[in-house]
Amino acid sequence: MGIRSLLLLATLVVSYTTPSSASKESAWNGRTTPGSTRIAKFTPYYVPPGAKSYDSSSPLLHFSGSWTELWHSAYVQKTLRLTTQPGASMTFSFTGIGIEWFGNKGRKHGTASVYLDGTFMETVNAYSPTLLRQQRIFGAFNLQQGRHTLKIINGNVKNSTSRDTAIDVDALVVTWGPPPGANPLQKDLAVSPRALPSSQTLPGASLATASGAQWTLVQNGSTGVHAMQLAVISDTHALVVDKVEHNPLTISGHPAWAALYNFETHALTPLSMQSNSFCAGGAFLSNGTLINVGGNPVVEDRTSVADFGDVDGLQAIRIFEPCESHSVENCAMYENHDRLRMASPRWYNTVLRISDGSAMIIGGSRKGGWMNNGTTNNPTIEYFPPKNLHGADGLPIHLPFLVDTLNSNLFPIAFSLPDGSVFMAANRDAMIYDWRTNTERRLPRIPNGVRVTYPMTGTGLLLPLAPENNYAPEILLCGGSTIDDNKPGYEISSQDPASSQCSRIVLTDAGIAMGWQVEEMPNARTMPDAVLLPTGQIVIVNGAGSGISGYGNVRGQVGESNADNPVLTPVLYDPQAPPGQRFSSAGMPTSSIPRLYHSVATLTPSGQIMIAGSNPNLDRSEVKYGTEYRVEWLGPPYMTKERPRILAGVPKVLGFGATATIQIRLPPTAIQGSTVRVALMDLGYVTHAVHASSRLVYLVFSLSSDRKTLTITGPPSGEVYPPGPGFIYVVVDDVPSEGVRLLVGDGKGPAVDHAALESVLQNTSVDQYELSKANLTGDRAE
Ligand SMILES: *[C@@H]1O[C@H](CO)[C@@H](O)[C@H](O)[C@H]1NC(C)=O
Ligand SMILES: *[C@@H]1O[C@H](CO)[C@@H](O)[C@H](O)[C@H]1NC(C)=O
Ligand SMILES: *[C@@H]1O[C@H](CO)[C@@H](O)[C@H](O)[C@H]1NC(C)=O
Ligand SMILES: *[C@@H]1O[C@H](CO)[C@@H](O)[C@H](O)[C@H]1NC(C)=O
Ligand SMILES: *[C@@H]1O[C@H](CO)[C@@H](O)[C@H](O)[C@H]1NC(C)=O
Ligand SMILES: *[C@@H]1O[C@H](CO)[C@@H](O)[C@H](O)[C@H]1NC(C)=O
Repeated sequence: MGIRSLLLLATLVVSYTTPSSASKESAWNGRTTPGSTRIAKFTPYYVPPGAKSYDSSSPLLHFSGSWTELWHSAYVQKTLRLTTQPGASMTFSFTGIGIEWFGNKGRKHGTASVYLDGTFMETVNAYSPTLLRQQRIFGAFNLQQGRHTLKIINGNVKNSTSRDTAIDVDALVVTWGPPPGANPLQKDLAVSPRALPSSQTLPGASLATASGAQWTLVQNGSTGVHAMQLAVISDTHALVVDKVEHNPLTISGHPAWAALYNFETHALTPLSMQSNSFCAGGAFLSNGTLINVGGNPVVEDRTSVADFGDVDGLQAIRIFEPCESHSVENCAMYENHDRLRMASPRWYNTVLRISDGSAMIIGGSRKGGWMNNGTTNNPTIEYFPPKNLHGADGLPIHLPFLVDTLNSNLFPIAFSLPDGSVFMAANRDAMIYDWRTNTERRLPRIPNGVRVTYPMTGTGLLLPLAPENNYAPEILLCGGSTIDDNKPGYEISSQDPASSQCSRIVLTDAGIAMGWQVEEMPNARTMPDAVLLPTGQIVIVNGAGSGISGYGNVRGQVGESNADNPVLTPVLYDPQAPPGQRFSSAGMPTSSIPRLYHSVATLTPSGQIMIAGSNPNLDRSEVKYGTEYRVEWLGPPYMTKERPRILAGVPKVLGFGATATIQIRLPPTAIQGSTVRVALMDLGYVTHAVHASSRLVYLVFSLSSDRKTLTITGPPSGEVYPPGPGFIYVVVDDVPSEGVRLLVGDGKGPAVDHAALESVLQNTSVDQYELSKANLTGDRAE
């Protein structure tokens, strides 16, 4: 393969940047774990399962010039090759998609030039004021699958404070990547669908239109950190949040676990994080600030291969202020548990923006684990900013629903309803919670024993709200599992079939009396993602045909995955079509990338769907089902049609009931009788198949007679659209414009009750899980 084709690929080159301050360095190289006085060293050297490490003593590494062999128990395979000679070089040819060079950094170290396939990549600097072993000196990922050659040449440039010009090679790690042309074909599950009344799925009409427009699926870009959580933060960028692990993308010399992703260039900007965000939830507040909430205890030797230097994330509230600049300069995640934290530890909690623009933080487990149980359950809600409601004074409010729904009730599915109350589904049950009166209204049980929340993960959406029917809310739940949630992991199999059921309920008195309406997806799915389109249709994508969420828990694990039989073809669901004609996969492209546990999908401002993630593994792995960094872009047929355009006039802030006049250009295909709609969409915060705060509200508008301006009216209230960020799409005959971002409401932050905030700080402690560990049985986080 020529160098030209190599460079055409979006090569992710990762280089070591010397920590700019000693404090950064100590966070990763001199941390003491809670309850210990031993200084833990973070050593970046890591060989993902399935990848291969080549030691410096391997005959496949060709050294020229003067190199010395050194021995020390702290070196990989106890050996290392070192040179101080200017121009001395090492050449290594390998087959794969990535290469990492590990070695020492120290006071005698200098620079080296790195070449890949004869092309200069960069100059690396191995100088460090303190000796650091097994450091990643250079890394390149996402090369074109094939044969490559790495060459490093001692640069004979020493740092002014450096004593010498040494560079050394301890080991090289080759990433194979997916096998070329791999197309893991789905096995047909030998499962006969349950007989259900009026729920036979008929083949739908072809999605291809008269003009021949088709769905497209393009793979482009890499998330650099595994995409466990995903949120669109601006017209140009998404936030990707992972757990602490050995990701290719680095920051301050150690693996990053969050990044900003540029939709246009696919460029990545790593973000610095302090606490472990595995498995947090998130929500935008009314002023556009994003909070990322909850997470995991510290990852240490017991649960991982390294002491990373992260802090306990179980009570974390991480603040990400609005980040609108295209350069994403100064966009940062802020965290300080002494001044900002939840009142209780939460792992797998749902975070939802509610009608007053604040965030409701729902449920979760008080520690890491897998299936929830009565010991670990946190059957409460709290708010950010904290509220003094029902005498709670900012402290958690008990929710009986979260006790009654044990065990499979983590990451509850929740939506704010147009009367301000909150729909919640957990396990086989659902309710409407009025947070102002602290009352639960239980709804009929989800039919046929289908469980919809972690680890029996299904997905849910609030269907589009429209003024025509006074914003009558309707909920759709799809997928999940009927596995008994009292079974231990060893009685559950990765081959246990998932559910193909979708259940709908209209949340009016009449609708509730009618109960759930049930239909069947063409494929069973656990861990599906449901993505609302501006057209009001829904794309269901990702997930597995069998098994259960998580890794390392059940029989028949594939690698570490608890699930198998990836479903590789998306399906379109049209909620307006008659029953039996709502699902269609006609014209849908089939992916070759399994997207199982820890996968995500979101609508983007362009109208395409961004699909990323999959990592049913403790740490980065190359073994099926490995850690997936590749991004796919699913383009609905409207992407290739002549689309309406929003030219100007979308206000930064659109008040409730306020009007704004926007300039548009309708496509020439728009004729008399064309249907025009204006969709206001919250693209949500996506993790674990929960599309929190996701919403579509059709706006009232009028079109000028010259059809060049639209006067839109903001939604009537925060109940109909919780104040906060949204995207406006103009939709003509089911073809949407690109979305334009705005803030709905007054753009101000939610009310802050300073006394309630103070009460949280006074009456709770930092890292309560670490303190109460002794009271919980077992302390392994997964
Ligand atoms: C020397 O190394 C330190 C730490 O890596 C770095 O901050 C500094 O810029 C380097 N100086 C030169 C002249 O390269
Ligand atoms: C990937 O994105 C880049 C940057 O936008 C673009 O130049 C390139 O053509 C894209 N590749 C594919 C296969 O779409
Ligand atoms: C509850 O879950 C935790 C975390 O998975 C586990 O350690 C503990 O043994 C479980 N307790 C019971 C009673 O099942
Ligand atoms: C939004 O409100 C939150 C909660 O009060 C606050 O922490 C944040 O700084 C505010 N953001 C902006 C941009 O004002
Ligand atoms: C919490 O702390 C505050 C002081 O900020 C105190 O007045 C209040 O009584 C405490 N509340 C509870 C429930 O303990
Ligand atoms: C552990 O449990 C006991 C008994 O319930 C309780 O008194 C004690 O405060 C708990 N310790 C911590 C650190 O939570």
